[in-house]
Amino acid sequence: RAGRRPLVAGNWKMNGLKADGLALTDAVLAGVRGGAWRCELLVCPPATLLSLVGDRLKGSPVRLGAQDCHHKPSGAHTGDLAAPMLADIGCRFVIVGHSERRADHGETDAEVKAKAEAAMAATLIPIVCVGETLAMRERGDALKVVAAQLAGSLPVGASADGLVVAYEPVWAIGTGRTPTTADIGAMHQALRAELKRHLGAESDRMRILYGGSVKSSNAAEILAIDGVDGALVGGASLKAEDFLTIARACA
Ligand code: G3P
Repeated sequence: RAGRRPLVAGNWKMNGLKADGLALTDAVLAGVRGGAWRCELLVCPPATLLSLVGDRLKGSPVRLGAQDCHHKPSGAHTGDLAAPMLADIGCRFVIVGHSERRADHGETDAEVKAKAEAAMAATLIPIVCVGETLAMRERGDALKVVAAQLAGSLPVGASADGLVVAYEPVWAIGTGRTPTTADIGAMHQALRAELKRHLGAESDRMRILYGGSVKSSNAAEILAIDGVDGALVGGASLKAEDFLTIARACA
């Protein structure tokens, strides 16, 4: 992995009231205690729980991340959250361009790029998500389309530790279906080549995660694929034991 420490991130999406979020956090922390973790651990709760969960995580090795940010640092944008606000409450990471936001909110590559740049300006590490639809994969266009998506979504001026990419095939999210290990490997190779083309040698140390139906039962196989530097986990991150089993699978 060329010195890249794997990252296992839990994207809780729009799930959890206070009691659920705290119980999940405490269960993750109980499991993490005392272990030497090969991977970096991250949880991304919904915005309502960020402060609460962040307070609980203080002093632990588990990092806090948000699920989205606005591309401006402040202003008249009702309902949105700016990257400096997220940094202010202890976030270290922010997911940008998740396919659910691209689909639900019509976010374009240019917007995702602007969000990633806003995140970096606020000292957050953006996790830039890309991934093809089933139709694109069936047409044989997946590699081409996803590389272009990445090129359009990449922030300018990212440093090696300052950017994470997540490959999440849309058709694999929440469906229990995953691409073959060969397809995941080929995509990660294509994305790494694309990163290098745009960001040069700096990109060698950037992590590329896989996301989409990662579970405790398939994590070891997926995380062992050459070029996979960790996982972005949705559903399975809502159960502490599953999340930690996935994290333990980092070779
Ligand atoms: O961001 C993670 C995600 O989209 C994958 O979700 O539920 O398939 O693990 P899931």
